[in-house]
Amino acid sequence: MSVFADKPVHQPGPPRTYVRREGRLTDGQKRALSELLPQFTYPEDGRAPGEVFGREAPRVLEIGFGNGESLAAQAGKHRDQDFIGLEVHRPGVGYLLQAVEADKLSNVRVSSSDALLFLDQALPQASIDRVQVFFPDPWPKKRHHKRRIVRPDALDKIARVMKPGAVLALATDWDNYAEQMMEVLSAHPAFENCHGDAQFAPRAERIVTRFERRAHRLGHTIHDLAFSRR
Ligand SMILES: C[S@@+](CC[C@H](N)C(=O)[O-])C[C@H]1O[C@@H](n2cnc3c(N)ncnc32)[C@H](O)[C@@H]1O
Repeated sequence: MSVFADKPVHQPGPPRTYVRREGRLTDGQKRALSELLPQFTYPEDGRAPGEVFGREAPRVLEIGFGNGESLAAQAGKHRDQDFIGLEVHRPGVGYLLQAVEADKLSNVRVSSSDALLFLDQALPQASIDRVQVFFPDPWPKKRHHKRRIVRPDALDKIARVMKPGAVLALATDWDNYAEQMMEVLSAHPAFENCHGDAQFAPRAERIVTRFERRAHRLGHTIHDLAFSRR
């Protein structure tokens, strides 16, 4: 084995927004990944979303859905809308797929690809009606702030797939990330604050997930933001 084996490998390109942590898969998640993932994976072959879902309906994209509790609840409530969920953490993907099966959510497709690649490869320009990024990894250390997903290069990719007037909804429990989101989004030419300059948004529709419960326990304030695509 190389003496450099445990040194981080230099990755060319923009900083990764996540750390791949495989975590333990339950038997149910393993089964869901092997049996359901092929059927519910959003294809990356450039197919039109209408063809993927077999209909034209409002489309919601959620980036980093965690275990998908919130996404599954929303998709169950709004069966007249289609949902594309992106999450690199495979146990989370397995968890959501179990809910997709149990609640017969034919309006959900998922991908375990890096969202920043998926956005470029899988989705046509102006094809999404709403994008949600709830509690993205906060990367609290200053030297890691460049890994935060709300940053100009990622916003360019998100903006490309949004229809004009589509809304990007975000939430975070890190004050300093909320400020960064406000700054970067306000400066981005493709976005306009739905609630006026520098204003935070009312709570978006979402159930309280594990991450939000933890934030409450820690006494953190939750900030929501909503920006529309110009
Ligand atoms: C802190 S968790 C929040 C999960 C969920 N939104 C919630 O509120 O419970 C952030 C999630 O984003 C995922 N993530 C981070 N970067 C990603 C990327 N580039 N593509 C897909 N998922 C990503 C992580 O794996 C993690 O599960």
